[in-house]
This record gives sequence, C-alpha cells and structure tokens, in this order.
Amino acid sequence: MRELFLTGATGRLGRTVQRELKNSWIIHPCSLSGGDDLTTAEPRDVVPENTDFVLNSAAMSSRAGCMHNPSAAFRLNSLWPRKLAIFCADTHTRMVHISTDLVYAGGVPPYTENSPAVPRSLYGWTKLLGDIAVGNRNPQACVVRTSVLTGNAGAKMATFSEDILSGRVSSFHVNCFRNHTDINALARFLSKCLYSSMNGLVLAAAPYSMSRASYAYTLLGKQIDLVHASDDIPHDLTMRPSVRIVKEQE
Ligand SMILES: NC(=O)c1ccc[n+]([C@@H]2O[C@H](COP(=O)([O-])OP(=O)(O)OC[C@H]3O[C@@H](n4cnc5c(N)ncnc54)[C@H](OP(=O)(O)O)[C@@H]3O)[C@@H](O)[C@H]2O)c1
Repeated sequence: MRELFLTGATGRLGRTVQRELKNSWIIHPCSLSGGDDLTTAEPRDVVPENTDFVLNSAAMSSRAGCMHNPSAAFRLNSLWPRKLAIFCADTHTRMVHISTDLVYAGGVPPYTENSPAVPRSLYGWTKLLGDIAVGNRNPQACVVRTSVLTGNAGAKMATFSEDILSGRVSSFHVNCFRNHTDINALARFLSKCLYSSMNGLVLAAAPYSMSRASYAYTLLGKQIDLVHASDDIPHDLTMRPSVRIVKEQE
C-alpha cells in the first residue's frame, strides 16, 4: 500500500483527503493538535521512514491569524514548505504542496499559471514565499493552487458552504469573485496528482468564478443580505484553472 505523510491532517482539506484515501493508502497524519509543531520541526524528525508521498496541507490559513502571529505564519507557511521540499528532493519522495488564490492581487483576472502574483495580505505573502521555495528547491514537486473551498469537511474551521448553511455568515459580498471549489472533488484530484509526475505550479479549481453573494444565493435559494467588500481585500480573483475541479452529481 502507498504510504502518505499528510500535514494539516485535522484541517478542512486534510480531513477530506483522509476520508478519500483511507481505504487505499496508509496515511501518517500530522497536525499541531496531534503533537507536531511544524513551525519548529525538522522533516527528518516527523516524516516516517517508509513514506512514498507527502502532501503539505498544513497552513496558518486565516488572514487574521497571520496578522496576529506573523512569525509563526512565516515559519509554517514559508519556511516549513521550503524545508520539506529540500527533504523530499534529497530522499526522492513525491511532494504536493497546497497554495491559494490569495497570492493574487485581484486587479487583472483571469489568473493563470503565468500570471504574476502580488499578494495583498500577510497570509498571501507567506503562502507565496512557500510556493516559490518549493518550486526552487524541488522542481519535481507540484504546487497546487486552489480557491475558496466548499462542501462538507467536518473540521474545526468551516468551509464557506458550511458557514453559509449553518447561518454563521449571513451577509455576502457582491463584488468579490472566486472559483468556489468543491473540497471532495479537489481531494480526488490530489490523490491522482500525488500519483502522477505533474510538477511546478498547477491551478486546480472550479472552472468558473462567481461572486460570494451569487454562490450563497445559489446554495440557499432565498433572499440574502448583500454588502460591498472594502478595498483592502482583493475583489476579483477569478482563475482560469488548467485543472478543472468539478463536483460530481450526487
Ligand atoms: N480553506 C480554504 O478555503 C482554502 C482556500 C485556498 C487554499 N487553501 C489552502 O489549503 C490548505 C489547507 O487549508 P485548510 O483550509 O484545510 O486549513 P485549516 O482548516 O485551517 O487547517 C490547518 C491545518 O494545519 C495544521 N496546523 C496549523 N498550525 C500548525 C503547526 N504550527 N504545526 C503543524 N500543523 C499546524 C492544523 O492542525 P490543528 O488542527 O491541530 O491546529 C490543521 O490540521 C492550506 O495550504 C491553505 O492555504 C485553503
């Protein structure tokens, strides 16, 4: 059986990947609550010996969290992926690293693999530095850049659709456009990507973008409160993904 070292195993994407792969892969889960602090760890101390594949899904994933603790954000989102990329290159271990559309500024969509990335948040900058380090240190690794995740993850933090359906979010930006991406379909793609020789930067997300408000309206099917996003966040992060992540019909 294939052996996968999965960081961020308790997160939204990590939990979904575990559900997707648990019957066909041996998964070595890694998380902060499980006792591994990747802001200080060295890969040789946490990656099990028989690991064939590494999926780096750990991140300080909230913009507020990064602002609150920039040093930890830099160590987890930028330095850890760099260290892991070097380790995987040295040990010939296949590595896939997860990135975000928030590395883009939102000014000149649609974004492709060739678009310049100029983040507008500390979170975006720490993630971009991690992506660049992985690409430089391990050209065989794949950096999968995706957009806002939706669907049932059942993790500590909710996906956007879980937030909407639970009523935790009740007003929605009309002027923010994202490729809302189904987390289960993304996990299925990641299982194939790990097993492939795909390398470099790959944009993998829902094929179309829509406003946050349109997405919420489509999900709830009733009137919602509409608001305009302030200018300090990127408005249009529409991507033209080379890998189209499409939710399967239930
Ligand atoms: N969520 C989205 O909409 C979205 C959109 C685009 C891209 N992404 C990217 O997708 C990836 C997965 O995001 P996610 O939404 O699944 O994240 P998440 O739900 O916030 O989960 C973060 C994971 O990282 C772990 N972690 C946090 N700090 C750590 C530390 N110091 N040491 C070790 N592990 C630590 C957490 O462990 P504990 O649970 O134990 O704290 C958790 O397993 C990230 O790279 C993110 O940038 C996410």
